[in-house]
Amino acid sequence: MLKVEDLHVAVGGKPILKGINLHIKPGETHVLFGPNGSGKSTLLGAIMGFERYQVTEGRILFKGEEITGRSVAERAKLGIGIAFQRPPVLRGVALGDLLKAVAPAPSDVGEMADPMHLASFLERDVNSGFSGGEVKRSEMLQLLAQSPNFVLLDEPESGVDLENIALIGQAVNHLLQKDGFNGEERCRREMKEGRSKAGLIITHTGYILDYVPADLGHVLYDGRLSCTGFNPRELLGCIHKYGYAGCTRCLA
Ligand SMILES: Nc1ncnc2c1ncn2[C@@H]1O[C@H](COP(=O)(O)OP(=O)(O)OP(=O)(O)O)[C@@H](O)[C@H]1O
Ligand SMILES: [Mg+2]
Repeated sequence: MLKVEDLHVAVGGKPILKGINLHIKPGETHVLFGPNGSGKSTLLGAIMGFERYQVTEGRILFKGEEITGRSVAERAKLGIGIAFQRPPVLRGVALGDLLKAVAPAPSDVGEMADPMHLASFLERDVNSGFSGGEVKRSEMLQLLAQSPNFVLLDEPESGVDLENIALIGQAVNHLLQKDGFNGEERCRREMKEGRSKAGLIITHTGYILDYVPADLGHVLYDGRLSCTGFNPRELLGCIHKYGYAGCTRCLA
């Protein structure tokens, strides 16, 4: 579904990503770890096509089509969606109106907001005055309305209380067609049954993995994916034990 080939990205003229290779197949959920400032959000921003991330080498393919150089709107229409690490406030845009603009069936917007505990937020400007956790739920609600085929989630559980992480987890599972997840075995079985949606999730703590089953993990270090293709929980254990640099050396 998503192929990133030898991707080099600069931000403000400074090289951040130095040759990223990544292949995410339909139905797969990948997890991205890495220290602060290593370029995780840069990678997501480059995949989504934000202009501040300048692709200097390499290419990005989505469903076999090259999308490097395409606009954010085109990528969104192709089925890529993103939940930001630090979502912007949209003054003058009510959350309900934004949801109606992106949802295939605008009449369902109220029903969608209810499970995310945001039904009373629909008249408010997007993210304006929302608490940290409310902003994260608002991001998930916007994605649920958009229903993309491929989701980029930048620290979806950061700043979210323990009970609401479960809610975020349910939303992510719905987005990734993993509803009713009940253990790894079911996850693997479902994969064989033709799940089509896929995603890439950034997490530092791994709390989201308590709720969302994921297939493969990667560590972004020094501008490259230094160890890729391991079980995300195994990787998290290595990072805890050896630190990012040690983990990268050890698994290499
Ligand atoms: N305009 C700029 N000029 C120079 N460096 C920049 C600019 N914008 C961003 N950077 C740098 O790019 C690097 C990568 O940032 P990015 O947000 O991708 O990191 P991250 O891995 O998501 O970190 P975190 O875990 O803290 O969210 C950072 O060191 C950041 O300071
Ligand atoms: Mg980041």
